[in-house]
Parts: sequence; C-alpha cells; structure tokens
Amino acid sequence: MKDLTPAKDSLDAIEIASLDEIRALQLDRLQWSLNHAYENVAMYRKRFDDAGVHPADLKSLSDLAKFPFTYKTDLRDNYPFGLFAVPREQIARIHASSGTTGKPTVVGYTRNDLSNWADLVARSMRASGTRPGDIVHVAYGYGLFTGGLGAHFGAERLGCTVVPISGGMTERQVTLINDFKPGTIMVTPSYMLNILEGFRKAGLDPRACSLDVGIFGAEPWTNAMRTEVEAAFDMHAVDIYGLSEIMGPGVANECVETKDGLHIWEDHFLPEIIDPETGDVLPDGEMGELVFTTLTKEGLPMIRYRTRDLTRLLPGTARSMRRMEKITGRSDDMIILRGVNVFPTQIEEQVLATGGLASHFQIELYKAGRMDAMRVHVEATLDAADELSRTAATRMLVKRIKDVVGISTEVIVGDPGAVERSQGKARRVVDNRDKG
Ligand code: DLL
Repeated sequence: MKDLTPAKDSLDAIEIASLDEIRALQLDRLQWSLNHAYENVAMYRKRFDDAGVHPADLKSLSDLAKFPFTYKTDLRDNYPFGLFAVPREQIARIHASSGTTGKPTVVGYTRNDLSNWADLVARSMRASGTRPGDIVHVAYGYGLFTGGLGAHFGAERLGCTVVPISGGMTERQVTLINDFKPGTIMVTPSYMLNILEGFRKAGLDPRACSLDVGIFGAEPWTNAMRTEVEAAFDMHAVDIYGLSEIMGPGVANECVETKDGLHIWEDHFLPEIIDPETGDVLPDGEMGELVFTTLTKEGLPMIRYRTRDLTRLLPGTARSMRRMEKITGRSDDMIILRGVNVFPTQIEEQVLATGGLASHFQIELYKAGRMDAMRVHVEATLDAADELSRTAATRMLVKRIKDVVGISTEVIVGDPGAVERSQGKARRVVDNRDKG
C-alpha cells in the first residue's frame, strides 16, 4: 500500500493547534450556539427555562452538563421544520433519514452550513489520504440520505474529479472503476464487499485495480473487516463517521497514517460520553453513549444530542483533536440474549476469523419455546462450498461465538450468495421473535 500521509502544510491550522487554542475556540462557539438555539428555537427556549438554565450560565465547557439533552423524538415531534433556527427561506437544502417507524427525521442547512460541511468532508478525505486532483468514486446513495451529496461536495471542495455513481448496479460500478481508474472510493463497507464480489464475477483482480483508499462509514464495521478489505484490494480502508442530525458524513474521520480511531472535528462539534442510563457525563476513556453539541450550525443547532452510538473518547494522536474509538454499535442494535449483551460487530469479528466463510452475514432472532434465540446466517466461499468444509465452518463458528462472545447460537452456512446483499447500509439483524 502506498504511503498517503498528507503533508503537514496541507492541513487546516486548527487540526494541529494546541489543546488550549481548541478549547478556547470551542467555548466561544458553544456560547454562540446555545444563544442561537435559545433565541430562535421555541423548543430549546422552553427546555432551558424548564431546567432553570440560561445560555449565560455557561462559563466553562464543563457547564454544558447543566443543559438538557435533545433526542431523536424531538425531531419527530417538531416535524418537519420546527427545530430550524433560521427562517425557512434561509435553508438552502433539506436532507432526511428514513427511520424505520413513522415520520422521517428532517434536517436543514444554511449556505454557511453547507460550506462548513464541504470543508469538513474535504478535511476528512485528506486525512484518509485523498489528494486534490484524485478521481473519487462516490457510491454512497444520493438523495435525501446525507452520504452521497455530503461526500460529493466534500470531494469537489478538495479539488477532486468526482464520479457521482450512487449505490446499486454493482456490475456497472465495477466497469466504471476499471475504466475511470479512481484512486478513492467512498461507500458503505458492506456494499464494498458486493463490489469485491463484482470484481471476482467479472474475472478481474481487485488487487490490480486503481483504488488506493476506501472511505467507509454509515454503519459499524470492525478492524477485522478492515484487514479483509485492505488485503482484497491492496488499498487503505479508513473509517468516516457522521449522522444527519449533526451534519452527515465528516463529523469524525480516521487518519490514514495511524488508523487508530476517528478524530472528531472538535472545532465544529463538541463530544461528550455519558452513561446512557443515568445521563451522567463520563471521563474520557470510558465507554458510553456519544452525545454531540454543534458549535457552528445555523440551520439546525443541536444541543447535547443523544446519538445512541456507543464508543469511548481517546486523546489525539495524528491530530490534536480527540479521537473516538470505532463504534461498537448503537444501543438500539444491542441484542440481549439470555442476559448477555451482544452487538452485530462481535459476530462480524468471529465470522471473519472463521476459514471457509465469506464476509457477508445476517443475524436472525427467533423464539425457541419461550426463550429468545439467535441464528447466524453466513455463506461458504466458492472454494469451500462442499459438505465437509461447511460442516467444519459451522462447528468452528458456533464454537468461536460461544467461547469469545459467550452465547450459544445456531449457524447456517448457505451457498455462496445466500445472504441478503445491501446497496447501502446492511440489515444485520432480522427480528422474527414475534413470528412464533
Ligand atoms: O449514515 C451519515 C454518513 C454517511 C456517515 C456516509 C458516514 C458515511 P445517518 O443515516 O443519519 O447518517 O445515520 C447515522 O449511522 O448514528 C451511526 O449509528 C451510524 N454510523 C455512521 N457512520 C458510522 C461509522 C449517516 N463510521 C448513524 N461507524 C450513526 C459506525 C456509523 N456507525
């Protein structure tokens, strides 16, 4: 793999500023953001008043803990535009996330917000090893989802040649990668596996393709998956994080030279880790729920937004700003099986560690009598699809999950291609517990 470490003089000054400088900027911006929310959004004014706090009470960053949380339900309850802090005409773009139940969550950006977003995605891409002039293949979905357009404008801002292919039509993705020779691909990690499969079906060697870096996010993925994809394509695999409510992709990103967690772009977003049960702020280094406060967002300021993503905050390394560890999972995706907490990422690690299995998997929950039970659907690789190899892989995966994760599961090793494929975010868990 190429050394893609960006030159120090290509970074934004704030990326390598002193912590004192960063904290001073944050305090300034946080005071502005709390005021902006309080003055312009009825919900925030009421919440702050009810809690007996005023933006003027914020004298230091730690005073933020006195302010109330914001939840996803608040966006739904104020659907569609009730949390916007500027007149609707000043909103230059809307995005929305589908949401599994009920109304989507709608987010809005002013022109300044869009410009900051493009800057931060450009910064994220540079951290990933992409350079001005590179060809960038964007296979995140375009449309209301923030992935496609977010990546697109960031790549333009960095000065790249953008291929806005969006998700789907895997054969065509492979053809265009082969013909246009992009250096960077931006896509969900699960869809990257489909593209890998597309290369193999087309009889092309993925290691010989032009890709030097993949910027993967929008869903949890493990370091085991990184190793797998890096080896398959002979490319760097770097993690990008974000959520629509806070901005979209580019809230945090790994650096290609360290790949040791994602630097949070703290000049625009203030992170906290809290105990999800009590709401208490936890010290850096402890695992808990990630909470964000936006520092510069005009259209939709978010104060102490509960992401439900679980991770820990770590000190800066390649950049001064703090890192977050790769996301373990969302608290909503946590499966509690006979008292043991399990995340799909833990199953992913074991699938990837088992010989003879492809990297695709899906977890099914069902009822065995009155007990909850788990079945893991995986598939044999082409060269290990015979009965004997499958039986060995089944036994091995059952044992690994039992030994490492601590739960008993059934494993079904299907034919190559048997597991549902995603074009964007993979559906890792299918819950059939109410289907008898
Ligand atoms: O998924 C934004 C995005 C697009 C990020 C493209 C990265 C790349 P939403 O659809 O609002 O926005 O979903 C946000 O996805 O709260 C996490 O649970 C999950 N997520 C996003 N990035 C990562 C990641 C986009 N790198 C939700 N690792 C978040 C793990 C991620 N989970």
